Amino acid sequence: MGYEHGDEPPSNASANHNFYQVMDARVARRGFLMGGLATLATGLIGGSLTATAARAQGRSSLIGFKPVPVSYADTVVVPEGYSVRVLGPTGTPILGSLPAFRPGANTGAEQEQQIGQCHDGIHFFPINGSSSDGLIAVNHEYIEPRFLHAAKDGYRGVAHSGSSVVYGADGRRDDDEVRMEMAAHGVSIYRTRKQTDGSWAVVEDPRNRRITGSTPMKIAGPVRGSAAVRTRFSPDGTMTRGTLSNCAHGATPWNTYLAAEENWSSYFTNADVEQPREHARYGVSKTPRGGRYGWHLARSGADECIRFDASTRAASATGDYRNEPNTYGWMVEIDPFNPDAVPVKRTHLGRFAHEGVVFAPAVEGRPVVCYSGDDARFEYIYKFVSEDVFVAGRTDGSILDRGTLYVAKFNDDGSGEWLALAPGRNGLTPANGFADLADILINTRLAADHAGATKMDRPEWGAVDPNTGAVFFTLTNNTRRTQAQVDAVNPRAVNNFGQIVRWNYADGDHARARFDWDLFVLAGDARHSSVATGGALTDDNIFACPDGLWCDKDSRLWIQTDMGDRGPDDDGPLRPFGMNMLLAADPATGEIKRFMTGPWGQECTGVVTTPDGRTMFVNFQHPGAHASAEQFAAGDYGSGFPDYNGAVPRSATVVITKNDGGVIGT
Ligand code: FEO
Ligand code: CA
Ligand code: CA
Repeated sequence: MGYEHGDEPPSNASANHNFYQVMDARVARRGFLMGGLATLATGLIGGSLTATAARAQGRSSLIGFKPVPVSYADTVVVPEGYSVRVLGPTGTPILGSLPAFRPGANTGAEQEQQIGQCHDGIHFFPINGSSSDGLIAVNHEYIEPRFLHAAKDGYRGVAHSGSSVVYGADGRRDDDEVRMEMAAHGVSIYRTRKQTDGSWAVVEDPRNRRITGSTPMKIAGPVRGSAAVRTRFSPDGTMTRGTLSNCAHGATPWNTYLAAEENWSSYFTNADVEQPREHARYGVSKTPRGGRYGWHLARSGADECIRFDASTRAASATGDYRNEPNTYGWMVEIDPFNPDAVPVKRTHLGRFAHEGVVFAPAVEGRPVVCYSGDDARFEYIYKFVSEDVFVAGRTDGSILDRGTLYVAKFNDDGSGEWLALAPGRNGLTPANGFADLADILINTRLAADHAGATKMDRPEWGAVDPNTGAVFFTLTNNTRRTQAQVDAVNPRAVNNFGQIVRWNYADGDHARARFDWDLFVLAGDARHSSVATGGALTDDNIFACPDGLWCDKDSRLWIQTDMGDRGPDDDGPLRPFGMNMLLAADPATGEIKRFMTGPWGQECTGVVTTPDGRTMFVNFQHPGAHASAEQFAAGDYGSGFPDYNGAVPRSATVVITKNDGGVIGT
């Protein structure tokens, strides 16, 4: 998500320039010395050394395209021989009466039948195994109010995107704006099919569906029914409404979709003098207006809106929403093939700012294992191992309700260990403030603090190489890490550029408690980067702030960047990297090439292909978000993507094909 980068004024970063240069040179060497040893060890054990030998010293055959240069243009650029088309931008009708997109002027009821804003995680679910017909599930991470309401009073001169909404003279919010904003969040599911001219179209289908900030959901797993999730809406603590801030996703081995709840805490307020730890440790707003978009101040005072105020003073004799924030921060399971299935919050995967989730390849008769990062500065990486074993055709989402949640500790010698977050383990006892498993899970971050996990540089997406089992995680940046806080896996103070960590298990068993790690790449420009195979990044592949990550069936590792809401004139340490981009890497050789660059203001989010690898779907989120209030008021919306017709820009999926019909990346 982009808004967090707004916390980091370029003046700070540039004042620290000399400092981070020095730190880079010194500690990067230290991290890579150990990383090199870890690579050698895991290569020998995991078999990746064989692959390396096979492609010995040569250029990767996996990524055969000619890299594209860094871009400062408001366009999408792909390599020679590739084509790009737009699919499913914000406002595309998929349901009901199929209301047409009216730029900046649709109603809340219409938005409930249209694709939402700020596309992020995405997955293609083939219909009958097809690579030309399937269901797309796509997350809508947050909203850009000024683009959503551009034609309405007051939104002309609204400042930088993020949370800028307009309040009436009474200090309240317009009801339909709030309805529309909740509807622009969540997940869109729609059928798409390849047309005879090679383009992809949205197709009407009974499975097309919107899941929004208001959709009823079940609470499953150890937290179900716990006192901490009982609300006026669900006095027995078994249900809640809505999912928000759905950043990345996961596709389960049983073919369902998991949407992550990332920056949900900013949607709530609790103005009590002292917040409970379930709110305070997650950053629930403290000011009465609080809440990112002020939904609790909707003029109607509807129950569905006031639930975003978790203050004691907002409680009433008939019940209250003091526990409402506790029903957020989970992974939400959705069955895209059953439009009547109620989404389920799977609480055993922990409660934090879930960026997404990635599964290890499912092995018949073995536990299901998945990984999830908590994207905030100095937060952690987690792993869940199921108690029951995977049985193809029989296993469903309930397998995620029993097992063990672990948090990662990365030792400086290249080894690592998973610390169990379970009653009686790692000091998680009632005497230390953790009453039971539900209490541990609701307070996952505190439990991880207590267990002694390694504080990371903002863990974003993870990916698992389906052929070697290697796990990769992006650590996007952390400009607040000090020299005293540097360690081997987070080796840079004032980390502007981020890194990608990789780990392996001794015999490829993801359920193991110990692993070996190294840094796959320390991102940055030529002077500040290092790659695991030696040397630094070059003009063909410099990048910063890795975020999205996906490994395709051939082991191509796709890397997406989020350097914030960057326009062509943005200055500071991220200037050399231009607009946000998509790169491809060969994990065996370490080679990386820039594959695509995107328009102004966007962040490149979510990537997946059809099963045959010949069609790729990638999202561009929040184009134009960098535009100033003055620009916006003057009718300059910061970017023309994807319509380039003078209307407000909108998030969209792009469909990439190779002109010769080949596999994407070759
Ligand atoms: Fe929503 Fe951490 O990116
Ligand atoms: Ca992200
Ligand atoms: Ca990000």
